Amino acid sequence: MSQKLIQTEIQSTTTNSNRNGFIVFTAESIIRNKRDGHELSKEEIDFLISGYSQGNIPDYQMSAWLMAVYYKGMNPRETAHLTMAMVRSGEQLDLSSIPGIKVDKHSTGGVGDKITLALAALVAAAGVKVAKMSGRGLGHTGGTIDKLDALGLSTDLSPERFIELVNRTGIAVMGQTADLAPADKKLYALRDVTGTVESIPLIASSIMSKKIFAGADKIVLDVKTGSGAFMKTEKDAVELAEAMVAIGKEVGREVVAIITSMEQPLGYAVGNANEVMEAIETLRKNGPADLTELCLTLGSHMVVLAGKANTEAEARAILERCIEDGSALGKLKEFITNQHGISDAILDLTLLPQAAQVVPVFAGKSGYVQAIDAEAVGHCAMLLGAGRETKEDEIDHAVGITLTKKIGDQVAADAPIATLYVNNTEKVEDVKRMLTDAYTIGEERIAPPELIRRVV
Ligand code: URA
Repeated sequence: MSQKLIQTEIQSTTTNSNRNGFIVFTAESIIRNKRDGHELSKEEIDFLISGYSQGNIPDYQMSAWLMAVYYKGMNPRETAHLTMAMVRSGEQLDLSSIPGIKVDKHSTGGVGDKITLALAALVAAAGVKVAKMSGRGLGHTGGTIDKLDALGLSTDLSPERFIELVNRTGIAVMGQTADLAPADKKLYALRDVTGTVESIPLIASSIMSKKIFAGADKIVLDVKTGSGAFMKTEKDAVELAEAMVAIGKEVGREVVAIITSMEQPLGYAVGNANEVMEAIETLRKNGPADLTELCLTLGSHMVVLAGKANTEAEARAILERCIEDGSALGKLKEFITNQHGISDAILDLTLLPQAAQVVPVFAGKSGYVQAIDAEAVGHCAMLLGAGRETKEDEIDHAVGITLTKKIGDQVAADAPIATLYVNNTEKVEDVKRMLTDAYTIGEERIAPPELIRRVV
């Protein structure tokens, strides 16, 4: 068929009017439009997403459309329309009775990323309202709700209680009871089996729809890059960040994206209870340098976006003071108490779940740590029982891995590079071998990767 004929046919299907004068679309016409690289209108995207959500458009047509998007892409206008169509696919929680600007933070996921727990309490201590909906982990990266479970926290809050806690103490975290943006969930499942996950506009709209659905007015994004991240290269991470910032511009949400390194796990702990301990230590001024730095960087942007400071430097000084004077730790205690968790754990870490055995893993080679395969470390923690492969899997909050060496550190062959916290010994030997393999040890000392790469 000639190009001209295709065009004519497209026009006849997309501008077909019914007897009442309304424009009638067909899924087929929209697939063809995208296949041929045309910009889709808001109406076409709304038609497709609402039709698919309601079961009127079958998986085979949606799959074809996803593949067309994968190859032809979408511009910021189309991506924003897709985002908002997915936001409208579910019933949003009304957060209008929480006064002030609601700033949310999202991380694209990494190994050892326990930042939410420390960061939420830190910015809440600085006066930012934290009304956060979080999820459980799947695969090699953990979820915030799993870590809160390790603290015995109840995240099964009614909307009324959630709003009351935020208004009273400035912080509450609830589990995602209903699906956030249900069309995204259905579409993501289809992308997963049609080879269309790795599309920047589809990823960007998926992430942004959930943030906007959860009520965020302004959003700070931690877009990770490196071996333990979804985006393996900095170029891809920047492209994703730019796409999400552009969606924000189109839909009237201020978005700041920070590209950060996931070349190695964040901090030292990978698991649940041990990650909670590290987050608490961070607010007790004993946290790892990278975790503390990331909290201050992301937190500064949140404080500025919330209007609590004029500059990042001013915001950072406020946050440093909140750590120094103990108010961030106090806010964490208040948060844990409100949601019936083990609040005394902030003073006594032994109150958190403890594993039966502690097993050292030795370097086996002397030199300097030159690289750590963060994704492999995440898989090791999962094999010990700290993560789940499917939603139904039970996890053990006490188990995990705490690294003792990171990139740039000197190691002796007979010195430990990590400690395993173990309850079930079945896979320990495999994990020890895999963890040793995850480390590259060489003669030359190299500088640790720069944590904060750039702001988009
Ligand atoms: N995370 C999401 O929420 N959606 C994607 O498409 C990819 C990662």
